[in-house]
Amino acid sequence: MTGPGHAACRTARDLLDTASSLGIALPWREDPSSLLVPAVIAGRTVPNRFAVQPMEGFDAALRNGAPGELTFRRYERYGSGGSGLIWFEATSVLPGGRSNPRQLWLHRGTARAFRDLTRRTRDAAARAFGKAHSPFLVLQLTHSGRHARPDGAPAPLAAFHDPALFGDGPEPEIVSDDALLRLMDGTIAAVRLARDAGFDAVDIKACHGYLVHELLFARRRGNSRFGGSFENRVRFLVDTVERILLEVPDVVPAVRLNTFDALPASTGFGHAETGSPVLDCSEPLAAARLLAEKGCGLLNITGGNPYRSPHLVRPYDRAAGSGPPAGEHPLMGVDRLIRAAAAVQRTLPRVPCVGSGYSWLRQHVSGVGAGAVEAGDVSFVGLGRGAFAYPDAPADLMNRGRLDKKKVCVACSLCTELMRGGGPAGCAVRDRGIYGGRSADSPEDQ
Ligand SMILES: Cc1cc2nc3c(=O)[nH]c(=O)nc-3n(C[C@H](O)[C@H](O)[C@H](O)COP(=O)(O)O)c2cc1C
Repeated sequence: MTGPGHAACRTARDLLDTASSLGIALPWREDPSSLLVPAVIAGRTVPNRFAVQPMEGFDAALRNGAPGELTFRRYERYGSGGSGLIWFEATSVLPGGRSNPRQLWLHRGTARAFRDLTRRTRDAAARAFGKAHSPFLVLQLTHSGRHARPDGAPAPLAAFHDPALFGDGPEPEIVSDDALLRLMDGTIAAVRLARDAGFDAVDIKACHGYLVHELLFARRRGNSRFGGSFENRVRFLVDTVERILLEVPDVVPAVRLNTFDALPASTGFGHAETGSPVLDCSEPLAAARLLAEKGCGLLNITGGNPYRSPHLVRPYDRAAGSGPPAGEHPLMGVDRLIRAAAAVQRTLPRVPCVGSGYSWLRQHVSGVGAGAVEAGDVSFVGLGRGAFAYPDAPADLMNRGRLDKKKVCVACSLCTELMRGGGPAGCAVRDRGIYGGRSADSPEDQ
């Protein structure tokens, strides 16, 4: 089932040789202990450099979007697994903004359940590591925009018209400036609820083709304060960050930011010219700089579009379903994401950045991640699929000094297939008792 990609990278030597044959200078440290050194975000100490990436489980209550039993289970596992930073998954601030009827939705009616979720996550961490180990909790707030399916059927809301971005569904409604201002108000209301629920930070999600990300390349949005010039395109994000600092000052504003898109159409953010696959981070870097100046305290750097170029978002050995083969070695995707995070982190050394796309590396995450942290290329090493598969990777590194190759993600895309099927999503290989008992080719060997 899995391709040859990682099969040729079983040992660290194999991995580094493969990297150099592809012309990639992969960061590397044999000694992974720098991953266990505490960090500081906006004056708060974070126990170590492991971050759980936001990963939708689609296991919320159907009626009101409250965390369900599987949601609690996932976050308790993250808490007891030892990650210093836990970035909670995409959570809608408006009912119409959900990507799936089982996406989390934060509102007055669910606020108490979110409070329970942070409490149970912190309790699990304290039981495993003592009270001094307190993970930093971030909640990702979103509107799914063009990909909204609040009741299961597409209900797309887009920043601008672009026939090349239509999916199979209906033509999207174009969001008005007034509706964007209402979304900003709804976001600020959700930030207050998130603070009361015990989150340290909130992320205004600006990645992967969802509404606020799409605004960043809404060059063709005419007659609008949120389209056209760079200043207009970043306005929603920048104004929201400013309002958080002013109106809910005890929460750290964070942003998960796309630094490249590689959309096949003549549109996108972070390219030498529109539609070009050549990376040009000038605009994403300018956006990150502006956000930092305004007081954004934490960035999570990602790229690609899961609907158009999934291998760029999450390098894999096997595509989900009948999805396209990657067309490049997955390590090139990993390297692209590592370099994107490094470009931002080196430009803004005082703003901690989380790096994405590490899961394909499997047990070598510790060597590559430690290399990236020591080089100043990133502050936190994020694990998405890797956290579904192996939530206690940080605990293993603390207690045994190494990661267990029998527990790692095998980049087989089964979690994506579960998500596309409407959820619940998790690791069908390493957590098969819950997520369906499917198996990649001999995962034990990988
Ligand atoms: C099942 C699934 C759910 C995801 N949910 C989210 C999400 O809620 N928010 C987000 O920003 N990214 C989401 N992602 C992307 C991941 O956070 C991450 O960027 C990607 O998987 C690459 O990291 P990895 O190599 O560590 O898996 C999701 C990915 C998958 C496969």
